[in-house]
Amino acid sequence: MGRCKLCGKEKAEIRLAYARLNLCRTCFTEKFFPNRVRRTVEAYKMFPADASVAVAVSGGKDSAALLHSLREAFPAVQLVAVHLDLGIPEYSEEAERSVEALCRSLNVKLKIYRLKSEEGFAIGDFKATRYGSKLCSVCGVVKRRRLGRIAAELGVDALVTGHNLDDTVESLMATFTAGDFQQLVRLKPVLPAQQPLPRKVKPFYRTPEREAFLYAEFLSLPFSRQKCPYLSGSRSLRGKRLLDLWESEEPGFKYRVLSAFEKLIPLIECSIPQPEYMYCKVCGLPSSQPVCADCRRIEALKSRNAVRT
Ligand code: AMP
Ligand code: FES
Ligand code: ZN
Repeated sequence: MGRCKLCGKEKAEIRLAYARLNLCRTCFTEKFFPNRVRRTVEAYKMFPADASVAVAVSGGKDSAALLHSLREAFPAVQLVAVHLDLGIPEYSEEAERSVEALCRSLNVKLKIYRLKSEEGFAIGDFKATRYGSKLCSVCGVVKRRRLGRIAAELGVDALVTGHNLDDTVESLMATFTAGDFQQLVRLKPVLPAQQPLPRKVKPFYRTPEREAFLYAEFLSLPFSRQKCPYLSGSRSLRGKRLLDLWESEEPGFKYRVLSAFEKLIPLIECSIPQPEYMYCKVCGLPSSQPVCADCRRIEALKSRNAVRT
């Protein structure tokens, strides 16, 4: 691979084919990676340099790399980490240990919310409901709601998640091919605040998943390597594998999908009306329907339990 293209001294260890760039570990971790995070946050006006933000940390590589690189790129931003214990046997325990070690090492305040003790259920309990065949998507709804609520209670300027380039491009392709154009807008890197929920932002919008992994690995950040047991065979894993194949044949493909998306968004926004948001009759939080997606799922869980007992 030769020498690093940035410093010209060290041996290059990482090839970024889409940029025709070979980098050494130091230039990658100290310059390239945090600089891209800084530029992304600034370009999309995610939050100002003195904001207070809640960072959703799952225990995985993305959120570990996110917390660390935000600290590097924005030393004046007040960070608080938020972790949801989803009650998934073994997986959740390992995730929590990693999150605790990470926050301790970075000296970041951590708030843990336990689904089981706060609300009496775990993600696996949805198996017995009509949502059981799509546990990952129920989990997504449950996480989104609680992270939003906790961020609102913390009174932060923004809720930050570790969704990376691959996550976004995979969701884009799936949403696009389903013909669900209205939903595409939800994949933007900044979603505005909906009182009382703060804005949601994705500083890794332009960060490939592989690079988040390498950053966490090179810096020996504590993160869990366990895969969620409910993820096997999921649509998103399959989609990401296919995108990796495409990217290997055609470097830069994922960025090109993102650029096309950014051109499409204003067209969608002015031609397809977005649903008016109202407030959920049950929980009182913003929703596009009279009862929000989260409350409908919790209701299914409760009625199932009522039938069983
Ligand atoms: P995923 O939905 O698992 O792809 O995760 C996307 C992002 O959601 C992660 O990068 C985190 O920012 C956040 N997230 C996922 N799981 C959790 C969790 N258990 N606790 C807090 N944040 C989470
Ligand atoms: Fe939610 Fe796996 S972490 S289903
Ligand atoms: Zn609700």
